[in-house]
Amino acid sequence: MAGSFETVGVVGLGTMGAGIAECFARAGIAVIGVEAGPEALTRGRGHLEDSTGRAVAKGRLSEAERSEILGRVTLTVSLEDLADADLVIEAVPEVMDFKRALFTDLDRICKPSAVLATNTSSLSVTEIAATTGRPGRVIGMHFFNPAPVMRLVEVIHTLITDDGLAGEVADLARRLGKTPVTVGDRAGFVVNRLLLPYLNHAAVLLENGVATRDGIDTAMRLGAGLPMGPFALLDLIGLDTSYEVLSVLFRESHDRRHAAAPILRERVAAGLLGRKSGGGFHRASEPVAPTAD
Ligand code: 3HC
Repeated sequence: MAGSFETVGVVGLGTMGAGIAECFARAGIAVIGVEAGPEALTRGRGHLEDSTGRAVAKGRLSEAERSEILGRVTLTVSLEDLADADLVIEAVPEVMDFKRALFTDLDRICKPSAVLATNTSSLSVTEIAATTGRPGRVIGMHFFNPAPVMRLVEVIHTLITDDGLAGEVADLARRLGKTPVTVGDRAGFVVNRLLLPYLNHAAVLLENGVATRDGIDTAMRLGAGLPMGPFALLDLIGLDTSYEVLSVLFRESHDRRHAAAPILRERVAAGLLGRKSGGGFHRASEPVAPTAD
């Protein structure tokens, strides 16, 4: 029953983790947010305060509601504080070794009935599950950026997920006001498998001089009805995350469409990672949605 998820842990409070914590807190669920150290914890708190602060400024939340939401989130640097959580969602960087080490710790710390979920963008949920002594209780719960706004949650089940668990997690996603789609464990799942080759192809078009950055962004917004052009979206997702997802897709498929465009790889190497670093394809000070080329 989704109702049995009363305390949820979120490990990693970057853009995605903080957004996920906000989703649960908004739904009235107690959240324990964990970061590796005090500085990262302060940044995580900043994400939560900024996001809910914007909602107050726009009149979408009252100050009292904001305080209640923030009051449901307990922040800590100790994984041991997750011992009684009913569900823990991992949102740490997309490095399999980090994830495996974390799930080994969570398996030791969390109560046996707890569900351990990963918000991985593309890595194998099966491989993560197999690290633990409870592979049937490990699942993918993939949110989209910005998590408080995007309505989809991909629920990723594996060959060894307990019967019924995907349904319970889908019910939980509905409790957050999201729409769940249940998918199998293949690199990129559904959204990233289809979205990243498109974003990558936009970078190839730019590299080949077919159109300008703003021309391509405008064309896709106005011609395909998308809320953002591909370069604005790459900056939102993060060029590093996009590159990592493409690398996983390429390793699994050997499909050329997944081979990251040099212009993308070059920016990642230069530390131009998107909004999180002050600029990627767009600079932080530029509008990302010009109306014409
Ligand atoms: N955090 C919280 N709320 C945010 C936000 C953020 N980072 N950014 C925007 N919002 C809220 C705004 O406050 C506003 O809320 P309101 O309607 O209650 O006032 C609402 O979202 C709309 O925002 P804006 O009016 O400022 O801007 P837009 O109408 O342009 O919408 C957008 C912004 C929702 C980001 C929209 O452009 C969009 O949907 N873009 C596409 C995003 C997308 O495709 N995401 C998926 C990426 S793939 C992914 O994440 C997978 C991963 O594994 C890589």
